[in-house]
Amino acid sequence: MNRDDALALLRRYVASENLVRHCLATAAVMKQIGAYLGEDAERWEIIGILHDIDYEEVGEDMERHGDVGCKILLEEGVDEEIAQIVRRHNHVRYGPVYERPVEIALQAADSVSGLVIACALVKGGTVSDVSAKTVKKKFKEKSFAAGCDRSRIAAIEPLMDAATLYELAIAGIAGIKEELDLR
Ligand SMILES: [Fe+2]
Repeated sequence: MNRDDALALLRRYVASENLVRHCLATAAVMKQIGAYLGEDAERWEIIGILHDIDYEEVGEDMERHGDVGCKILLEEGVDEEIAQIVRRHNHVRYGPVYERPVEIALQAADSVSGLVIACALVKGGTVSDVSAKTVKKKFKEKSFAAGCDRSRIAAIEPLMDAATLYELAIAGIAGIKEELDLR
């Protein structure tokens, strides 16, 4: 499975363009973190693309989020490891503490992607105007992009410092800015 395959699969289950963009942004950050850690960056990117595949299917029922995604992925022939990572990324059910780097990264990428995009939107959608310093400042401002869970971002700590995460997240999102409708 490559990026195009994963995106095509996601689009079969997700109609919302906003949700697709969230998954692409999370994936772009996952790819950067994976590469930084010397892991399989393309695989981490695919995990990011697929992580919320069940979001529309479960609707408001967050108890089923992840479990349903895992089931969909197994039915679609995606490998067991990816399916289980998607299942367990529901931190309310399976977190908040994760041991595996890929799972820690997914928690952080899922939240920091939204924070970086919110920082870009404040700057007229120009992601190149966002610096790690901007993100650090907005991280502390709890009312800013309040839906971005700061504790999931801070949990990256065993793998890298926050500034490094911000740099990687900005680079990842800048790399796919057209797909995210940013500049
Ligand atoms: Fe997500």
